Amino acid sequence: MFNRIGVIGAGAMGRGIAQLFASSGQQVLLYDTRAEAIEDAIAFNRNLLQRSVAKGKLSEGDFDATMERMQPASDLEQLKDCDLVIEAIVEILEVKQKLFDQLESLVRDDCVLATNTSSLSVTRIASSCKRPERVAGFHFFNPVPLMKIVEVVRGERTDERYIQGLVELADKAGHFAAITPDTPGFLVNHAGRAFGTEALRILSEGVATPQQIDRMLRDGPGFRMGPFELFDLTGLDVSHAVMESVYEQFYHDPRYTPSFIAAQRVAAGLLGRKTGQGFYRYEDGQKIEPQEPAAEEVMITRPFWLHGDDIVMRSNVSAVLSAAGATLEEGNQPSAEAICLVTPLGEDCTTALTHLGLPGERTLALDCFDNWDKRRTLMRQPAAEANIVAQARGALSADGVPVEVINDSAGFVIQRLIAGVVNLGTEIAQKGIATPETLDRAIQLALGYPKGPLAFGEHYGKHQILTVLNNLQAVYGEPRYRPSPWLRRRVQLGLPLTTPEFQE
Ligand code: NAI
Repeated sequence: MFNRIGVIGAGAMGRGIAQLFASSGQQVLLYDTRAEAIEDAIAFNRNLLQRSVAKGKLSEGDFDATMERMQPASDLEQLKDCDLVIEAIVEILEVKQKLFDQLESLVRDDCVLATNTSSLSVTRIASSCKRPERVAGFHFFNPVPLMKIVEVVRGERTDERYIQGLVELADKAGHFAAITPDTPGFLVNHAGRAFGTEALRILSEGVATPQQIDRMLRDGPGFRMGPFELFDLTGLDVSHAVMESVYEQFYHDPRYTPSFIAAQRVAAGLLGRKTGQGFYRYEDGQKIEPQEPAAEEVMITRPFWLHGDDIVMRSNVSAVLSAAGATLEEGNQPSAEAICLVTPLGEDCTTALTHLGLPGERTLALDCFDNWDKRRTLMRQPAAEANIVAQARGALSADGVPVEVINDSAGFVIQRLIAGVVNLGTEIAQKGIATPETLDRAIQLALGYPKGPLAFGEHYGKHQILTVLNNLQAVYGEPRYRPSPWLRRRVQLGLPLTTPEFQE
């Protein structure tokens, strides 16, 4: 359907889009209002492709043919015979609308006009066009050739034929096409909101430091980067703008509330790598890895008592305590000496110990939601005595696994973040923003999560996730944590989270 493609805007995205389609066999014409931007983009792509030749990944012949297919256009008129024009110009609605208006007077009636916008409504861009049915979103990720996903965004009036055409084109270029309707943040920038905003919320409550939160998320669920490392990489100004934009467009739904912390840090220029300081410091572009604080030496004098009868957990705790020379009491009630450990799901330590009638000065919470092998989380509460915390930390790290001590939080850190990711994913499925399969695949490809939101839900157990959310909502009394109907119904019916809304 699309043999001749015009790309407008030869910046970071446009040059990548030009390279992608020239490599997959289409004729590409690259246009920019700044002639030097076109030259730079073509030189940049030549250099990249030459490196592929040097590495033996691309033959000389294919290199020549690809460069031959990628041509500069010195004015917009040259794009008049294109089957598809993709704009990747500045992110301003009126400028994009004006460009599409100019294009409509040049190109054929069946030429598709696609926008790479990441935050504007495709429908609004199309609203000033004579033929809004030929306008669609084609939202790539940076760097385009390496990020093997593109969102194909269906505006309110986009013709389905063109959506299918764009999907085929993406497929041919080796990119996964995630079809999504035109909603705020589309699919990926919407689904990505849970991770960062909840991390900022946890930070704002003084639960843990950014470094602790990042370490937990890497070592527990296996994220490549923690939320604060990711903010630093993306630039907090960019991330905060997306958070604000999605929040505004969903009419202040508290699920998406941005953080005053981010606003202040942006104002201070603490943007991350690009300014040398964000949540971490950078020298010559390299992150300065902060030292993990070592556990203080402490005599372990008290026995431990663990609430609950989970056999696996009891044997894990017992093993590490015996490595520390401490014992785990077997009784139903703790002795008067024992350090009491509770293992709440979605509740804070204070609530859990109050329900159980345990003594505040010697009760702590242990996170048993994730695996125990790399890092553990111990949660204190305001009544806990410092020596009790130190003894528990010392004992629970006796086998060499580090223990993070955090302040009281409903759902610790990992439970809150994972429950948020799953909840938002299921809400996205409920809203028909993506099919379950598209959702999970897109999030893994675009955000590099180790699992998609629905797969995370199954991995940790959807019942557990629902319990975490119900308890979070009860502790905070906020609709931010309300479980999505999609999640609740599938838990109640005992169905996989991927089950569609109705059986065909
Ligand atoms: P950029 O600033 O690197 O490049 C934009 C280019 O467009 C510049 O070379 C500029 O001279 C040119 N331009 C501006 N107005 C023009 C016009 N009226 N006609 C022709 N050329 C014009 O920007 P970047 O990062 O490539 O972003 C472009 C678009 O892609 C924006 O809509 C942005 O929101 C979107 N996007 C950006 C992503 C990113 O990570 N940078 C990711 C996904 C989408």
